[in-house]
Formats: sequence, C-alpha cells, structure tokens
Amino acid sequence: VATQRFEWRGDFHNRELNALHAESFTHPILEIDWRGQVSAHSLGWVTAREAGELIGFVNVPWDGGIHAFILDTIVRAGRAKQGIGTRLVAVAAAEAHAAGCQWLHVDFDDELRPFYLDACGFKLTTAGLMAL
Ligand SMILES: CC(C)(COP(=O)(O)OP(=O)(O)OC[C@H]1O[C@@H](n2cnc3c(N)ncnc32)[C@H](O)[C@@H]1OP(=O)(O)O)[C@@H](O)C(=O)NCCC(=O)NCCS
Repeated sequence: VATQRFEWRGDFHNRELNALHAESFTHPILEIDWRGQVSAHSLGWVTAREAGELIGFVNVPWDGGIHAFILDTIVRAGRAKQGIGTRLVAVAAAEAHAAGCQWLHVDFDDELRPFYLDACGFKLTTAGLMAL
C-alpha cells in the first residue's frame, strides 16, 4: 500500500489542482492560478499525496487574525471514504490553531453534514451566505 502524505502548505502545480477540481466538481478543466491565489490570500492549504500523485486538497483562507475558513475540501473520487478528507481538515485545524486562530468556519450543503459535523467535528451554527 502506497503511503499517503499530508503536507501543510505543500508544493503543487496549478494543472494538478485544476484537474482535481474538475473531477470533483464535474466541470471542464479550468486554468486557475491556484498557487497565486492561495499564496497571496490564504493562511495555508493542505495537500494529500499518494505515490507522488495529488489525491486531496483543502484551502484555508483567513482574516489575518483569529478566524480561518475551510474552502473546497476535495478528495479524488477513487480515494473516497478512506479518511483522507477528515485528515485534510484535521491538519488544517491544527495548523490554524498553531497560527493563533481561534475559530475555523465552513459552510456546506446538507448532504455533507455527516462529513463536516460527525467526521470532522464542526459544531452546527446559524450562518449566512449571499450569492454575489
Ligand atoms: C467531501 C469529501 C471531501 C470527503 O472526503 P473523503 O476522504 O471521502 O471523506 P472521509 O473518508 O474522511 O469521510 C469520513 C466520513 O464523512 C462522511 N462522508 C464522506 N464523504 C461524504 C459524502 N460525499 N456525503 C456524505 N457523507 C460523507 C461519511 O460518514 C464518512 O464516513 P464513512 O467512510 O465511515 O462512511 C469528498 O467526498 C469530495 O471530495 N467530494 C467532492 C467535492 C466536495 O463536494 N467537497 C466539499 C466542498 S464544501
């Protein structure tokens, strides 16, 4: 069994993250400059690799103070339900805590309640979201 490696602010290429996004959210492969975005605006991010291949990713933007956010947790479809998503979020939470954050926020669709609430340990709260 190949070892899975989880890395805070791990190096990645835009093309591999764009491919993972396209697969996970079922849209065509885009050419987003993820490296530029996360290095300029995020506290960090977590990469998951197996035999060198990018199999998971989570982006952790923040407010520069005590609030960090989980965005776009993604795991390769073929590697689902192996605990990779939970580990990505656990590394994100530990590193945000280590950076002095006191709160980690996430919003999600109803069907992902078992993942974020039961597996990752988020508490349910009232939140708001506005499409712009
Ligand atoms: C959501 C996602 C990141 C979960 O990753 P994962 O590695 O499969 O998650 P884990 O193996 O850590 O799951 C732990 C538990 O969470 C729950 N869970 C995981 N994926 C779930 C899903 N898609 N729907 C509902 N519950 C889910 C299950 O209870 C699971 O436990 P089980 O394996 O005993 O059933 C992954 O399914 C994914 O990439 N989805 C597509 C992209 C997406 O929608 N991301 C969320 C954006 S907010």
